[in-house]
Amino acid sequence: METTDTPRQPDYFLEQRRKAFREMPLPADGVDLAPLEAVLDEFPPVEGSLIPLLQRAQDIYNYLPRSIMARIAQHLRLPWSKVYGVATFYAQFYFEPRGKHVVRVCRGTACHVRGGKRVLEAVKRELRIDDGETTEDMLFSLETVACLGACALAPVMVVGSTYYGRLTPERAGYVLQSYREETDS
Ligand code: FES
Repeated sequence: METTDTPRQPDYFLEQRRKAFREMPLPADGVDLAPLEAVLDEFPPVEGSLIPLLQRAQDIYNYLPRSIMARIAQHLRLPWSKVYGVATFYAQFYFEPRGKHVVRVCRGTACHVRGGKRVLEAVKRELRIDDGETTEDMLFSLETVACLGACALAPVMVVGSTYYGRLTPERAGYVLQSYREETDS
């Protein structure tokens, strides 16, 4: 028979921690959770779901807000530190809002020798931002990468998932203008 002196079983504390975690208020960052809630049931609450679910969340929000990571931790019954640790380990995840179109310009050797540097300068000029920045209208974010895996098309940039190869500075500018026009129309 259990008395008040009986030590609690480890499972009791574990369950208490899990309960506290499930009931912990999510960070109030004003992000609408509804689009995430709509897909959560596609991911069973096991650790193996973590990366696919983070990827899906980033597809939805374009980055990983704190409240979204906390909700994912809750759904998968994982500690917040685990979710945060995994998300920050992989370069594919972002924690700040990014532009609607992510522009990646290659600074690899093949692109460099075929004028990639001038293409990058033209892109920076056109967008008026530097590497790692986002335009004020949240339309574009700019990143440079070591190789886009399309060296035969050098110099290359990718907008979203569309590749543009054999670029000149002028052509890079036209490509970006076409995305602006598409948004304005
Ligand atoms: S070096 Fe630019 S795509 Fe490979």
